[in-house]
Amino acid sequence: MRSPFHRLLGLLVLGGLMAAGQGGHGFGPVRPVELPDIGVTRHDGAKLRLREVLRGRRTAVQFIFVDCQTACPLLGSLFRKVDQALTDSEAQLVSISVNPERDSAERLADWRKSFAASPRWMGLRVEAADLAGLLAAFGQESGPPTGHTLQVFLVDGSGRYVARTTELPGAAAVAAALRVDAKRSEPIPAEARDAATGQALFEGRGGVRAFVGTDRLEPQAARCSGCHGTTGDGGGEGKTVVPSLRRTALTKLTPRRGGPASAYSRETFCASLRSGVDAAGVQFSPLMPRYEIDNRSCAMLWQFLTKGQ
Ligand code: HEC
Repeated sequence: MRSPFHRLLGLLVLGGLMAAGQGGHGFGPVRPVELPDIGVTRHDGAKLRLREVLRGRRTAVQFIFVDCQTACPLLGSLFRKVDQALTDSEAQLVSISVNPERDSAERLADWRKSFAASPRWMGLRVEAADLAGLLAAFGQESGPPTGHTLQVFLVDGSGRYVARTTELPGAAAVAAALRVDAKRSEPIPAEARDAATGQALFEGRGGVRAFVGTDRLEPQAARCSGCHGTTGDGGGEGKTVVPSLRRTALTKLTPRRGGPASAYSRETFCASLRSGVDAAGVQFSPLMPRYEIDNRSCAMLWQFLTKGQ
């Protein structure tokens, strides 16, 4: 008898998840790529490491250069729309110049200002010697600045490049991919504090819809208890680690998946189930399904998991 876990592994291999192309958000997943930790200069002149800029936040990255007249104004106005659509302070936008010879931090600052960028949107200059390596990490060849890509790249909170769009995507798609906590502020009704119903949901008796990539999972493969164990203690098979979902494990401030230390609250827990992104903005492995779960059901699930030790 094959476990749900094995069945899911089979599904992943057969389904060719990574080749799935455009995901539901307008972003297509890629096999996660660790970006090089190069030195960068921000538009305000601050010298930083790329990894510290990216750590702990979801970031949309685009490539531009200041003198570019055709595509870059479009890219600028795209990010302006995304910037205005976002309320999530955890997300940020980064425009990287592909013309480091010309584009000083000051020029990038002026470019940014011309789009009335908010603080979450920064311009970055990388050294000419580092540019090819950075572009390669995003699957791009280097060449003259005018040939640069019009795609938007999504980087997770551990600094890994995890998804990309087609050329010149819509602002709504980019904002949706960055906005992982859209339902955070909805009130949760009092009767939702029911651990018994939460346990039923945990064991897959609740009809919550689950997805791997864009594929809907069968209920028996979507049960939390199937992978995390009936008591939520976690475990794993082979190289795969399935984390514990006990109260102490969820609520303890601890580094997860290479990101900065984070702990779950009920709100970030529920946002993570829906988005596949953890409390520090780091994307889950594709083995952890995404759930279309409403706040009420999720509150019961949280109640069940956090009532004990
Ligand atoms: C098919 C297997 C599978 C199922 C079903 C599953 N998970 Fe997971 N889950 C995983 C794996 C594997 C990870 C680790 C992901 C990673 O580290 O990137 C994980 C990670 C998590 C995390 C992150 C924990 C941490 O410490 O950051 C939470 C929370 C979680 N799962 C909750 C749930 C809940 C709630 C359900 C049911 C609604 C569920 N999972 C169903 C496999 C599964």
